[in-house]
Amino acid sequence: MQRDVTKAVFPVAGLGTRFLPATKSIPKEIMTLVDRPLIQYAIDEARAAGITEFIFVTSRGKSALEDYFDHAPELERALEEKRKTDLMEVLDATNMPSGAIAYVRQAEPLGLGHAVWCARRLIAADEPFAVILPDDVISGEPPCLQQMVEAYAETGGNMVAAMEVPDDKASSYGILDVAEDDGNMARVKAMVEKPKPGTAPSNLAVIGRYILSPTVLDTLESQRTGAGGEIQLTDAIAAEISAGRTVSGLRFRGQRFDCGSKAGFLQATVAFGLARGELRDEFATYLRELVANGMAD
Ligand code: G1P
Repeated sequence: MQRDVTKAVFPVAGLGTRFLPATKSIPKEIMTLVDRPLIQYAIDEARAAGITEFIFVTSRGKSALEDYFDHAPELERALEEKRKTDLMEVLDATNMPSGAIAYVRQAEPLGLGHAVWCARRLIAADEPFAVILPDDVISGEPPCLQQMVEAYAETGGNMVAAMEVPDDKASSYGILDVAEDDGNMARVKAMVEKPKPGTAPSNLAVIGRYILSPTVLDTLESQRTGAGGEIQLTDAIAAEISAGRTVSGLRFRGQRFDCGSKAGFLQATVAFGLARGELRDEFATYLRELVANGMAD
C-alpha cells in the first residue's frame, strides 16, 4: 500500500541573481506578491494538499526565510491588545508548529537535483514526497499540488505538473516525451532537461510541482551533471522510467506565473492584485485608464 504524501521539499538555496539588487539582502522567496512573500503561496498550496512536514533546502543568506515562519510574540500581543483579529488570522498562517519545518543546507549550488538530494536523510525509504519550486506560482482551485495528490492516489509512481509551452520556449524547461495522453494525464516515456532549440520531443513542459518516489533520491546519489553542467532533477526522474516505474504528467487546471522572471513576477502581481476583493476596483480602474491612455507611450 502506498503511503500518503505528507512531506514537501522546497529548494530555496538559489542566489536570485535575476532580482539583484533586491536579492542582495533578502532571499528572493521573501519577495512580495501583493502582501505575501512568494514562499507563503507555496506553503499554503502544500498545506491544502495535506502536507504537514516542510523541508527547506537553504544556503547562506537565507535567515530572513527561517525567521518568517517563527512566532512573533510582541507583534501577536500588540495585535491582540488592539483586537485586530483579522490581522491575527493573517499572521497565524505564517506560523509553523514546532518541528514541522526542517532546514538543510546545500553547501554548493550544484543544481536542482542536488538540492533535492540534500533532503535525503529526512525522507524514509518507502515515503513518496512532494517538491515545490516557489518561483512557479500557480493559481488554481483546487490548488495544483492538491490536484496532483488526488490524481496520484489513483496512479502512484512519479508525477510532475505539466503545461504546454510555445515551441520557442521549450528549451527553458524540462520537456516530456509522451507515450499516451488522454488530454488530462500524460504517460511519459522519456524526459529531457532544457532541450536544444528544435530538438524538444513535445511542447509539454514540467512546471515546478512534483510527487516523487524515494528511489529518485537513490538515483540522485550517483547522478552525473546534465544540462548546464548541473545535477538535474529531470534526469533522475527520467531514470525512474528506465527502471520500470511510471512517470505521469498532470495537465493541472490553473494559471502558472514564472515568478523567477521579472515579467512573470509583474504579471502575477497584476493577476493577484485584481483577485483581491479589497483592491480590485481601484486597481482595475487604474489599469483601464492606463490602457485607454495608450499605456506608457
Ligand atoms: C526547473 C527544472 C525544469 C522545470 C522548471 C519549471 O528549471 O529544472 O525542468 O521545467 O524548473 O519552472 P529552472 O527554471 O530552475 O531552470
